[in-house]
Amino acid sequence: MVYLLLISLATHLAQATNAFLINDNAQEIPRAYHGHWFSYENGVGSSALVYEHTFGNLELVDKFTHKNDYNYNGFFDGVNSTMLMKVREGQHTCFYCVDVLMRTDNILQYRKSDCFTNNGGINMCPGKDQVPAVDQLATLFRLTVTTVNCMSTFDGVYQFAFEQEMGAGGICNNPDSTIEACKNPGSPYVDNEVFLMKYAKCSNVSTSTNHTVRYQCMGTWSAMVGPVSYTFAAVADTVERETRKRFKCLMTVKNQKSPDNSIRWVMSEFADCSKLKSLDNGPVRLTLQPKIQHCNSIPPGIDALVG
Ligand SMILES: *[C@@H]1O[C@H](CO)[C@@H](O)[C@H](O)[C@H]1NC(C)=O
Ligand SMILES: *[C@@H]1O[C@H](CO)[C@@H](O)[C@H](O)[C@H]1NC(C)=O
Ligand SMILES: *[C@@H]1O[C@H](CO)[C@@H](O)[C@H](O)[C@H]1NC(C)=O
Repeated sequence: MVYLLLISLATHLAQATNAFLINDNAQEIPRAYHGHWFSYENGVGSSALVYEHTFGNLELVDKFTHKNDYNYNGFFDGVNSTMLMKVREGQHTCFYCVDVLMRTDNILQYRKSDCFTNNGGINMCPGKDQVPAVDQLATLFRLTVTTVNCMSTFDGVYQFAFEQEMGAGGICNNPDSTIEACKNPGSPYVDNEVFLMKYAKCSNVSTSTNHTVRYQCMGTWSAMVGPVSYTFAAVADTVERETRKRFKCLMTVKNQKSPDNSIRWVMSEFADCSKLKSLDNGPVRLTLQPKIQHCNSIPPGIDALVG
């Protein structure tokens, strides 16, 4: 009797856990993916709307939800999945395997297979057993950015040197170039959800100018590139109107332990993470130096200076 009760209890628990893991309808695209997204791949920008059954022009056929790595403390919404999708193309139907990794509330990365014409079911999708590596993924940036804290991206005040890969004449290292990621009680933002990147002109780098960019944070994630574990971050320029330039991808390595405490990052020019290959190889290379001056020594009202 007790035995039976235990079995029934165990079954109950298993069901409860299952229901919990698959809180989304099995036949719908995960809710966390819904929205309006932008990507910039191979020089082409495009946007896609994701709803319950459609991902851009693709229609959901079947879905496999990858097991979650984390304990979500009762909240479960971020999921990786492999989906079988289809689209009618002329006379025939094209099927695609689409693997989606949810990196942050604002960032999805995905791989789409080539078209195949027979519906062999979700088991045909190799991503079900092995999620794609970073170099196989394209990045989607959420067009209406969900607020996230910047702390995992930048926290505090840094001086920075920068160098652009394409035709911009070497390293600009002005002591007045700073990144300021501070809690600012004087600003309309409750917490540090934005940071400032203040570029100061270098007389020896003709393309450099004095200007300030205010970036909104879109979250961070980590991923292996070859044998190295990198931390990635995405940000949105709060005033840039050209969408491909509005979103940037950044990459660093935690705990670099350089003798002078400097922290290296690489940054993209466009809404594209695929150009970040290593800390030496990316469209913009940044070297940050933590400043003695802390957030609280920045005079209030600094926001008013941002143009
Ligand atoms: C999604 O997959 C990536 C790559 O394997 C992994 O790092 C990440 O933790 C996964 N996310 C979740 C929520 O399981
Ligand atoms: C410009 O000057 C800075 C500071 O002296 C130096 O670090 C940097 O390498 C110089 N850049 C070029 C392109 O000469
Ligand atoms: C850039 O800012 C510095 C410091 O405020 C100032 O001295 C310099 O004249 C400015 N340069 C330009 C080109 O505006």
